[in-house]
Amino acid sequence: MRLDKLLSNSTGISRSEIKKAIRQGDVSVDGVKVKNASMQLSSEQRVTLFGQEVSEAKPRYYMLNKPEGYVCANRDREHPTVLDLMIDEPLYEKLNIAGRLDIDTTGLVLLTDDGKWLHNVTSPKHHCHKRYIAQTAEPIENSSIDAFRTGIMLKDELKPTLPATLTPLKSPEESVNVAEIIISEGRYHQVKRMFGATNNRVIALHRAAIGDISLDDNLAPGEYRPLTQTEIDSIQ
Ligand code: URA
Repeated sequence: MRLDKLLSNSTGISRSEIKKAIRQGDVSVDGVKVKNASMQLSSEQRVTLFGQEVSEAKPRYYMLNKPEGYVCANRDREHPTVLDLMIDEPLYEKLNIAGRLDIDTTGLVLLTDDGKWLHNVTSPKHHCHKRYIAQTAEPIENSSIDAFRTGIMLKDELKPTLPATLTPLKSPEESVNVAEIIISEGRYHQVKRMFGATNNRVIALHRAAIGDISLDDNLAPGEYRPLTQTEIDSIQ
């Protein structure tokens, strides 16, 4: 990797500031001051900036339990964002959200700075399943289960939704207003619009899993943790 790129990626300092530091002799490679910002580095070379060793930033992966009222955006004028919950992480603003949730939806949000991994989670071609628990205003009818399975033509869309599963969950009171939904796409307000198309309305929505990554029960709303290597590798 280029020297200035490595230093900028690893420290969050802008490329122009890094170039200035290099010109001023504040950067060394293997103990020797260098002046060439575009120098190509091998993985064994030791780089220091202002006398501190800097190593290549490793990609980061987190899961977060999104509380209601937070938006899945990097910045928002009106509402707190999920990234505001991660300000203790260095360079937290460089993290990207892998599959956004609405402001009133709770549950699993994945964040990473690995672009390829993010693509594998969000690209419709990868069919990465998302599991939700929804509470609805009206009882869930068998006809809705069929409609979810066969696909629904949503307003202003060109193609019907891909086959999805809708499984009513009976509560101890025998209510059928709660269901598990598994979809493999991430269209705008998809779950709410699918219920809307079956004459029902979502009143609470929670994401429980993305692919084989389930929301950790130990995370209270607003808390996050790094993914395990098994969780990271489960997304292909
Ligand atoms: N579907 C929705 O309607 N909202 C979400 O937040 C996620 C999926």
